[in-house]
Amino acid sequence: MPNKEVRVAVLVSGSGSNLGAILEAQKSGKLPGIHVVLVLSTKSEAYALVRAKNYGVKTAVVERKAYPSEEACQAAVLEHLEKSRAHVICLAGYMRMVSQEIVRRFRGRILNIHPALLPKFGGPGMYGHFVHEAVISAGEKESGCTIHIVDEEYDHGPILAQAKVPVLPGDTTELLAARILEQEHQLYPAVLKEFCKTLPSGGA
Ligand code: GRF
Repeated sequence: MPNKEVRVAVLVSGSGSNLGAILEAQKSGKLPGIHVVLVLSTKSEAYALVRAKNYGVKTAVVERKAYPSEEACQAAVLEHLEKSRAHVICLAGYMRMVSQEIVRRFRGRILNIHPALLPKFGGPGMYGHFVHEAVISAGEKESGCTIHIVDEEYDHGPILAQAKVPVLPGDTTELLAARILEQEHQLYPAVLKEFCKTLPSGGA
């Protein structure tokens, strides 16, 4: 474990239940030395922002419509991340591609959680219920979630951990999503904790 704190920024767009799991783990002392210092959302109405505020975490909203171009929007995200002095970034339901510049700047220190067993059922268009629909219609017997390092390609970087669940007869996308989400909430805090141990002192 690093001597100093590891500062974590969590990027979100929606409900933020994974964010909630990380914040709860931090609050209950399961993530010693790890501090969520920023929650940045692509949407002002994301419930994740309410969760962040409930835990007293600083929030930022970077909506595409507020910027003249994608580049300007991505530059604003990077500026927030730099200002927060985050060492590690966790994507938790973040519905925006991470720019190449952000990947370069935080190389090897951006984690993502995906609700399927990558490398299957990943890539552009594979998000939310689309993932679970694809898994069910492919007749898969199991699915799960994957935490991986983010690189320049969508859902692509090195895999850190996976948790599996069965796909049951008669499963709907909602039932399967809920079964997987339960695993996500266990896996993300646990993987974040182990990942931070591998960082040099102070997370830098
Ligand atoms: C999760 O299923 C995660 O795997 C995917 O987006 C969803 C986010 O859910 N990347 P929540 O906002 O954490 O509840």
